[in-house]
Amino acid sequence: MMKTINMKKAIHISIVIIASMAIMSCSNTNSPNYQYMPNMYEPVGYETYGEYDIFENEMEAKLPAEGSIPRGWMPYEYENSTAGLELARTELKMTLPVTEENLAKGAQLYEIYCAVCHGTKGDGQGILMQREKFLGIPSYADPGRNITEGSIYHVQMYGLNAMGSYASQTNELERWQITQHVLNLMAALKGEAGLIVETMGEDAVNNLPQLIESAEETNGEEPVDN
Ligand code: HEC
Repeated sequence: MMKTINMKKAIHISIVIIASMAIMSCSNTNSPNYQYMPNMYEPVGYETYGEYDIFENEMEAKLPAEGSIPRGWMPYEYENSTAGLELARTELKMTLPVTEENLAKGAQLYEIYCAVCHGTKGDGQGILMQREKFLGIPSYADPGRNITEGSIYHVQMYGLNAMGSYASQTNELERWQITQHVLNLMAALKGEAGLIVETMGEDAVNNLPQLIESAEETNGEEPVDN
């Protein structure tokens, strides 16, 4: 009698063990498990960069419509070519007013993006030049280069040979702020006077006639704003 009960028990236990092993063996830890009530996990709306049948190519993220302009971005009309550079060199003018703030911001950005190659003074002796990681970095005072506000802006937009573009790291305002700093570095290297800051300090009041004259020249030009 005792023996048969034990036998039955043993069979029951082994059935449970075999059944649970059979169920367990079906689970694959490499694939996602079952989801019960998936609405708890999955949003009803379309997720950014998600894949959905409803969209063309199943892509939620679309390319912007042709001709659209991102916020804070201004179209730049000069071509990425030697001709474009030469045109910008002579034609492209800075409309950003020269202020202490713009100069300070320009100096800061220059140290971040440009000084590694061009050097803090703009003499072409940055750390990467000294370590010979890059060669052929010119001094801004290089007499062979007629560097102008337009060319400084243009090379930041597109780069030039070994120099890369800074169009994705900086916005239009920042590129003109950097340009102001480069103009000042270039003037210092050449022993010329730098940009005149447009403030009305004591000195400025003494030079009032001159200031009015220069203000009239820049009149009607909108400051860059973004
Ligand atoms: C990776 C090193 C490197 C960095 C960083 C760099 N440049 Fe240059 N830059 C060069 C080289 C090399 C040239 C010379 C390109 C040539 O003429 O082939 C050059 C040329 C120039 C010129 C001369 C353009 C002309 O009219 O001939 C200007 C102006 C200039 N860079 C400004 C900048 C500014 C502003 C920055 C920062 C936003 C910057 N560079 C960052 C390497 C660099």
